[in-house]
Amino acid sequence: MAFTIPEGKSKADYVQKKFSGIAGKYDLFNDIVTQGMHRYWKRFLVKKASLKPGDRVLDICCGTGDITQLLQKKTGAQGTTVGLDFSPGMLAVAEERDHTGLSSFLQGDATVLPIKSKSLDAVTVGYGLRNLVDISLCLAEVHRVLKPGGRFLCLDMGKVKIPIIRELSDFYFFKIVPKIGKLIYPGEDMFDYFPESSVEYPSQQKLAEMLEGHGFVDVSYHNFHFGIVTVHHALKKRD
Ligand SMILES: C[S@@+](CC[C@H](N)C(=O)[O-])C[C@H]1O[C@@H](n2cnc3c(N)ncnc32)[C@H](O)[C@@H]1O
Repeated sequence: MAFTIPEGKSKADYVQKKFSGIAGKYDLFNDIVTQGMHRYWKRFLVKKASLKPGDRVLDICCGTGDITQLLQKKTGAQGTTVGLDFSPGMLAVAEERDHTGLSSFLQGDATVLPIKSKSLDAVTVGYGLRNLVDISLCLAEVHRVLKPGGRFLCLDMGKVKIPIIRELSDFYFFKIVPKIGKLIYPGEDMFDYFPESSVEYPSQQKLAEMLEGHGFVDVSYHNFHFGIVTVHHALKKRD
């Protein structure tokens, strides 16, 4: 039977609790199901953020902080790199991995950012938006906290247009990925949640339109593997 995603606050509570529960082996799971390719997509996302030493950047839904660490290498010791997530378990892993101590981590909600308006050069998110109850609230917040000319980068699953590729990728994500997850954490229904959470997630074009609707300009996206994975890029208009 298909997994039913809880709605509203119950979804947020489910996501927060469940990510904390799988935090210890989340990176291992990611490495196995993407055959390590998530590291390449994340490096691409960080490159697209065009950061320089001294910049201020926020990584929302930072999870175990791998994107945050890559961002920190670009902003350097003079910059500010913050990872934000609402799951204490994920944040604990992120803090442990930050050997330099140069990133900071905040527990918070990606739809109510505890950040000053117009203060950031870039905001990134990896596999985060689809977990939110209201993506629009988050996009409005991201737009608010970016400086004019600031960049937003989003990595997530995309919609595949070619039918045979879509069928193969659906088979992999709905049938194989949950089995891999349950080998790592036996009985854990979170791994049925993962593929289901991509069903309602907007298509590449729809997310681009949402970004434009929130005032972003120069919105574009780059598809990997026929759109199985996609990276959106958007700019906050200069004053
Ligand atoms: C699939 S993980 C992604 C982790 C990491 N960014 C990556 O690319 O591997 C999604 C993360 O989003 C966090 N999350 C989901 N909803 C959130 C919200 N409303 N506010 C903050 N974090 C949230 C979860 O706790 C989880 O750590």
